Amino acid sequence: GIKIATIGGGSSYTPELVEGFIKRYNEFPVKELWLVDIEEGKEKLEIVGNFTKRMIEKAGLPIEVHLTFDRKAALKGADFVTTQFRVGGLDARAKDERIPVKYGVLGQETNGPGGLFKGLRTIPVILDITKDMEELCPNAWLINFTNPAGMVTEAVLRYSNIKKVVGLCNVPIGMEMGIAKLLDVDHSRVHIDFAGLNHMVYGLDVYLDGVSVKDEVMQKLSDPENSSFVKNIEGIGWEPEFIQSLNALTCPYHMYYYKSKEMLDKTIESSKTEGTRAEVVQQLENDLFELYKDPNLDIKPPQLEERGGAYYSDAAVRLITSIYNDKRDIQPVNTMNRGAIPSIPDESAVEISCVITKDGPIPLAMGDLPVATRGLVQQIKSFERISAEAAVTGDYNKAVLALTINPLTPSDATAKQIVDEMMEAHKEHLPQF
Ligand code: NAD
Ligand code: G6P
Ligand code: MN
Ligand code: MN
Repeated sequence: GIKIATIGGGSSYTPELVEGFIKRYNEFPVKELWLVDIEEGKEKLEIVGNFTKRMIEKAGLPIEVHLTFDRKAALKGADFVTTQFRVGGLDARAKDERIPVKYGVLGQETNGPGGLFKGLRTIPVILDITKDMEELCPNAWLINFTNPAGMVTEAVLRYSNIKKVVGLCNVPIGMEMGIAKLLDVDHSRVHIDFAGLNHMVYGLDVYLDGVSVKDEVMQKLSDPENSSFVKNIEGIGWEPEFIQSLNALTCPYHMYYYKSKEMLDKTIESSKTEGTRAEVVQQLENDLFELYKDPNLDIKPPQLEERGGAYYSDAAVRLITSIYNDKRDIQPVNTMNRGAIPSIPDESAVEISCVITKDGPIPLAMGDLPVATRGLVQQIKSFERISAEAAVTGDYNKAVLALTINPLTPSDATAKQIVDEMMEAHKEHLPQF
């Protein structure tokens, strides 16, 4: 029988994943689902775990659910390991979002200083997990959802012995869903050719029933209403001259790079009013867990859609079922480049449309990235690589270097000040420094 181990099982996203397993049970019959968490997550794990059991009972499926703090027991003999943990919890995220703002730099959990520090906290843990996997489930696939997903995938590819790793983000599927809505058609008719990096992915072309509708879609992206496809980023639209000459579909996170000033101002403003995103999510999460506690609730509540990770279950479970069934359909994931994007190193992680086989994703070669996008993508890849190196070595200078080359940081001196304050604030989760 199929065994799944989910690390960070107490996440409010777990019901999303479970819904996916229930929907696709006929092609992917899970026998055991092990939800793993840590002592600090005890209450969340119990609430989510009991809700999961009710969902499965309601669906009438013979899936065993195990709740545990014993990661090794969960990993032993697993076929797929999914990861969705947050080292330091939302308190750490709130620091990632608040500290940089004091220095006039964007505070965000996957971009700029927040992305660096989330990576520094997360990479040692993911590398511990891969070591356990080598011993306990060497043939398992690691499906990583933990952010910063691009940097984490890069670290696993470079610093672990696990080759069967795929990084996953809901942004590409969210873009397809969003564009289907703009065109007022069913999402199954829309396909995008994706290439780039996690949270820096471009749509090179977009098709409706196999015919390019790129010109029509590019027009619509100028409208603020149509410029973000995730709940955690409010779109503020693009200058038509810019977006049309860029001639590639942007992802919501591009707002931080191509509209840095406006996004920084907005972030500072909202940190003073409704709070940073971590603080907003804290409230959303409390409400969700109140719902999850209700013994009569046995299906995923619609309130979960207020989180940024919408469609996670579709993305994760369709990926896993395609690997398991050797489906050879096309899905956007984070995987080793292997020459698909000529201007990115072959051995680096890219987010790209892939053919999904039993041996994993095979990236589609679609030519190089448009020249206007290339430099930024390379710079972010260098940021991810040097950040991962800092995380593994505990080299303080490398952390300063990584942040200085990030395009959201205005100077080396500012980078150093931010690194110093964040190292101190996060020190209990940074044993390598
Ligand atoms: P969360 O704060 O609810 O954390 C999930 C669980 O992880 C918690 O129950 C916590 O106790 C547990 N945890 C912390 N450290 C752990 C460890 N060392 N081992 C095992 N469990 C541990 O987080 P969330 O908001 O549900 O998000 C989970 C993760 O998914 C985050 O890293 C987030 O950035 C990521 N995420 C990714 C995407 C994507 O597109 N890839 C989208 C949404 C969220
Ligand atoms: C999605 C991104 C994730 C991100 C999440 C934040 O847009 O793909 O990588 O972490 O939303 O959502 P949240 O609800 O936690 O702010
Ligand atoms: Mn993402
Ligand atoms: Mn599609």
